[in-house]
Amino acid sequence: MTGKVGEFSLTNKVAVVTGGGSGINLEYARRIHAQGCHVIIGDVRLVEESKSWLQSVKDEPTKALYQKTDVINWDDLKALINRAHQEFGKSPDLYVAGAGVFEPSFSNFWEDPESDFYRELAINTAHPIKLTRMAIQELLPNRKKGVVVIVGSVAGQVYDLSGPIYVASKHAVSGFTRSLTLLDEKYGIKVVSLAPGPVKSRLFTDRPEFMKMHGITDEISMTPGEMADEMVNLTTSAQYGGGTVLEVMKGMPPRNVPGFNADPPAGMHTEHVVTNAVKKVFDLLDKERDGGSE
Ligand SMILES: NC(=O)c1ccc[n+]([C@@H]2O[C@H](COP(=O)([O-])OP(=O)(O)OC[C@H]3O[C@@H](n4cnc5c(N)ncnc54)[C@H](O)[C@@H]3O)[C@@H](O)[C@H]2O)c1
Repeated sequence: MTGKVGEFSLTNKVAVVTGGGSGINLEYARRIHAQGCHVIIGDVRLVEESKSWLQSVKDEPTKALYQKTDVINWDDLKALINRAHQEFGKSPDLYVAGAGVFEPSFSNFWEDPESDFYRELAINTAHPIKLTRMAIQELLPNRKKGVVVIVGSVAGQVYDLSGPIYVASKHAVSGFTRSLTLLDEKYGIKVVSLAPGPVKSRLFTDRPEFMKMHGITDEISMTPGEMADEMVNLTTSAQYGGGTVLEVMKGMPPRNVPGFNADPPAGMHTEHVVTNAVKKVFDLLDKERDGGSE
């Protein structure tokens, strides 16, 4: 089957959604489920909201299932797809790489907690790339049209001294998404990326100090549900073809970010503005400099 995905109906489709245990992806899962799409959530954990939602829909004909998944582990990603075959007798139509972390204490450029690799890159970048490859390998031989949605970030358009791995990880997925633009027209596989601005989710609310340091206030933040509405639109609307990187910021119309010479996101603060976060880095670097032995 060739030709663009175009309008993508969610009715009777099957989706795998990583990171659907909370926040933006949970709200997204709820919305696509309400439109008749079976959902398999892959996450390392569920929170109260996701547990109670899964419980509340367990007897509905449209299924919402949870499978414990660590997206760093590619066997876990494959197992999500296998689960779709077992439960629904077909490969997923929709692949959502939503799981992500923001410069966590276990994988942090400035604090060096790791000695082997940067898990943040494995979660934010390698997992969406691998899930996309798996999606192509599932969809193509079955001659099926399908959609891959990668949750990037407006951090993919800016820079931030206090979160350089996060920024690198999200720049990477924007470039990756754009690189696959032609798959939509040629094979009916639409790969797109959502680039959210600030959203008040557990990514920040679990770390109040971090949230304060990055200037995340109600004034500039969207709710996970508001963001998920735009993410559903990005998934289903023919207006957004393969390769789209859709920036969604509070108070602004969604912007299809051009691949070249894009203007900076309106109102987004960069390292110069997030002074508290930058100060923390400078304090650490001053200490490193002053601890030198030469
Ligand atoms: N909140 C924001 O301001 C914001 C802005 C831009 C982009 N994003 C992106 O949105 C996505 C969703 O984040 P959110 O804001 O809803 O936060 P969230 O913390 O509520 O959701 C992230 C989910 O990813 C899961 N996860 C983390 N590591 C995992 C792993 N190794 N394997 C499986 N699951 C894992 C978490 O358990 C969690 O359920 C992330 O990719 C994040 O980078 C968020």
